[in-house]
Amino acid sequence: MVNVLLIILESIILFLPAFAANPAAVITGGYVKVDFGRNFIDGRRILGDGKTWSGLIGGSLLGVVLGLIIYFIISLFHITLIGNYGTSLVEALSVLLPMSFGSLLGDIAGSFVKRRLNMKRGQKGFLLDQWPFVLMSFLFVFIFSRGFFMEYYGNFIGIVVILALTPPLHRAVNIIGYKMNKKDVPW
Ligand code: CTP
Ligand code: MG
Repeated sequence: MVNVLLIILESIILFLPAFAANPAAVITGGYVKVDFGRNFIDGRRILGDGKTWSGLIGGSLLGVVLGLIIYFIISLFHITLIGNYGTSLVEALSVLLPMSFGSLLGDIAGSFVKRRLNMKRGQKGFLLDQWPFVLMSFLFVFIFSRGFFMEYYGNFIGIVVILALTPPLHRAVNIIGYKMNKKDVPW
């Protein structure tokens, strides 16, 4: 039982950079639209005004920074109960860059689908706001950092737990963002 809880805790802690990248994009975002304002063949915006390069790059890099902080805390305090991103800074970055950029690229994929479904920018997308970033982040880690993926998420327990936890967590973070006037809507 304790073991299972530790595995779950580990999978959540190691995935925090992917979670953090999204609210971080709200802070750095707003400059230069990813789709440069262009429409798709269906006449609707490719991605919409909510996806900017400053959000994508700034948010991803802040996610990486959080990951490095976690990496150094685990390394410096020799925390052995949970794993780590690797044994060197290069290894850690090779996990954190795909995890963080994958997260916000997944967020962009979600917006692409929302626009195809004729949902306006900021409109509640239900799981389209919540699962694409999780799945794309894991896909990127799977592709670019297979060893790390297999070690911590290879049994899929962590992924399932994270998919289940993301909707309530996402909701809570967005309510906070709304109260702080960082977001126009509380979702
Ligand atoms: N943001 C950004 N660039 C990104 C992601 C997010 O600038 N790549 C900023 C935008 O200001 C955006 C806010 O973060 O409005 C919230 O992000 P999100 O909820 O993902 O976007 P929405 O505005 O809800 O747009 P969509 O309907 O496309 O999800
Ligand atoms: Mg949104």
